[in-house]
Amino acid sequence: MSNIKVNLENTKISMEEILKYKEEVEQIDKILRKDPNSENNFLGWMELPSNYDKEEFERIKLAAERVRKNSEVFICIGIGGSYLGARAVIEALTNTFYNYSKRETPQILYAGNNISASYITDMIELIGDRDFSINVISKSGTTTEPALAFRIFREILENKYGIKGARERILVTTDKAKGALKQLSDEEGYETFVVPDNIGGRYSVLTAVGLLPIAVAGIDIEKLMQGAKYAQDKYTDSNLKYNECYQYAVVRNLLNRTNKDIEILVNYEPKMHYFTEWWKQLFGESEGKDGKGIFPAGVDFTTDLHSMGQYIQDGRRNLFETVINIENANSDFTIKEEADNLDGLNYLAGKTMDFVNKKAMEGTIQAHVDGRVPNILINMERLDEKTLGHLIYFFELACAMSGNILGVNPFNQPGVEEYKKNMFKLLGKPGYEN
Ligand code: PA5
Repeated sequence: MSNIKVNLENTKISMEEILKYKEEVEQIDKILRKDPNSENNFLGWMELPSNYDKEEFERIKLAAERVRKNSEVFICIGIGGSYLGARAVIEALTNTFYNYSKRETPQILYAGNNISASYITDMIELIGDRDFSINVISKSGTTTEPALAFRIFREILENKYGIKGARERILVTTDKAKGALKQLSDEEGYETFVVPDNIGGRYSVLTAVGLLPIAVAGIDIEKLMQGAKYAQDKYTDSNLKYNECYQYAVVRNLLNRTNKDIEILVNYEPKMHYFTEWWKQLFGESEGKDGKGIFPAGVDFTTDLHSMGQYIQDGRRNLFETVINIENANSDFTIKEEADNLDGLNYLAGKTMDFVNKKAMEGTIQAHVDGRVPNILINMERLDEKTLGHLIYFFELACAMSGNILGVNPFNQPGVEEYKKNMFKLLGKPGYEN
């Protein structure tokens, strides 16, 4: 269906050691499952794959279809949890060169995730006079970066299509009742989609936050949800012995307790680059608090073997790796024999490119394990909607479990406010003078 298997062999941690956490894991599992649909906690994502708003889901598909018909460009405006999930899925499941390739779906651009003047100027130039639509995504409705980008692109849309025409091209994903963005949408008559109260930004990819941009890219969001549902069912067993998701959570904590405080997520598929960015936010914001946390890093191999490889092999021994292995490549080709063999590559003739990639992976894992970098291997059967939905849910649940084992609240992010306070004071925002 959408198989994912976790191999812990190269962590050198025995099942006996892992199972010492059996009772603690069962207790945490009970807390997580006590009342996932309550408005008062941040556990709404737990049952989301089987308990999502079906009416809104249909509206998402219709809105995506409209954008695909009337727009050559689609701008996804959001930051952090309000855009990383969408970008992760879109880049993983579309053509590597999606934005440059011949397609029937709009070019997809991301704005509101920085405050660079040249980024926005270049984007406006790139769009030119092409038809475009925007989806502004902000749970709070007040985040500076997306609010600024929205102000800019809303004005461009209104000048280009008029107030009424712009209304057709502005889609808003925000809180169901509160916040500046919700208020503005109600006043202007924009179509809105909801970020549920009990789902935090970094756990929201399977809500309208992620699903609308993903659907615009032509990805089958039903299958994505089916994969997540499969994972939801698969990891309900609170018995650590049978729950690989919880085993992963325990093992990273066990490694952390032996001074391994950096986890590097490794992929051998460039399409997974933004999945790593999503994963970094998920774990970084969930666990990095109260002076605790495993620092989440990421590398794209074999690219980064030629930049970060040296450090991983030989630098400080405070690292462990989690490698995502896509077992069956979506496409492949066979290396041909050449008569003169000037490049010396004939020894690979008849082999496929993916075979070479897998051998690079196997060789690297062995080298890093020999270099005292423990390795967790996550084998995903293939890179498709269902398996990626499964993987998303796997990491969300693992993160909730892991954060609790670590002794932190994995659903808040108090530290993020600090830079904002200083920035607002420097900018003279009313209310931040002192
Ligand atoms: O995970 C989170 O909660 C954050 O990364 C938010 O998604 C991010 O700060 C954007 O917030 P908002 O959606 O309110 O604009």
